Amino acid sequence: MDQTVDRTARELRATSLRPKTRLESGEHAAADQLAGHTRQEPDSLFERCAWFYALCREYLFRDHTQEIAQALFPADPPKPGTRLLELGCGPGFYACRLSEELPDLHTTGIDLSENLIQRAESRARSRNLSNCSFQHADAHSLPFASNSIDAIVVSRLFLIISDKEGVIREIFRVLKPEGRCFIAEPTSGFRTRFPLAFMWLLSRLTTSPAGKYREPQQADVMSRSDFEALVQCEPWGESELHYDGWYQYAVCQKASAACSIANAGVSTQ
Ligand SMILES: C[S@@+](CC[C@H](N)C(=O)[O-])C[C@H]1O[C@@H](n2cnc3c(N)ncnc32)[C@H](O)[C@@H]1O
Repeated sequence: MDQTVDRTARELRATSLRPKTRLESGEHAAADQLAGHTRQEPDSLFERCAWFYALCREYLFRDHTQEIAQALFPADPPKPGTRLLELGCGPGFYACRLSEELPDLHTTGIDLSENLIQRAESRARSRNLSNCSFQHADAHSLPFASNSIDAIVVSRLFLIISDKEGVIREIFRVLKPEGRCFIAEPTSGFRTRFPLAFMWLLSRLTTSPAGKYREPQQADVMSRSDFEALVQCEPWGESELHYDGWYQYAVCQKASAACSIANAGVSTQ
């Protein structure tokens, strides 16, 4: 707790003193040019206010670790070498919790925010987790081979993503046959919208002129029907949806390789 508060105070001081994110926008442009691009992405609020999001994750949001473990590994605990991916892992809360609870898992958290990845890495280090790693990557184009991942966790990501179907497509692509994914999206209004709204306010108060950020002004809380339609846009072997007062959940399993081949045969006849 003291470490979190200390680090937060340091990040807050540094953030309010500098107008841009850790990767300054000029550095983004230079990196893009080196990579042969001219496009310049807007900054991310999660990068700028990483310390604030990490506090919310730690003390405000629900911990679904047990539900995730049960949903992803319903019969037996994962075997050694089982690969789990967390998309939009933020400060690495679930990647670390699952790696602690299920030591045979190898967990990879991906996120676009370098500051949050650093926090996630230091969280894993402070817990001596050697089965947990983090990398900078975009959930719309995952740097993993098709059919290579056993399980995927996605928590509170679709709230801020515009191409939601593109992300579901990537989840489906990288999961192995019979691989499972767990998706949790909040449904409650104020508690869901508060962190993003506060990050916008904070960035306005600490930046002049006001920065441009890629996140929407308001979190996109999906209706049940939109959530269901999103999940069903891929041909899962099995999928279940659950709801409680605060969240909507989807647990999906890709069909076995044999089923997929049989279905492909039927659809081409
Ligand atoms: C609302 S937070 C959720 C963090 C964490 N999953 C949790 O449950 O608290 C959304 C996270 O997704 C990241 N993110 C946003 N767009 C992304 C993308 N296209 N690819 C990967 N991560 C992304 C943000 O940087 C942020 O850390």
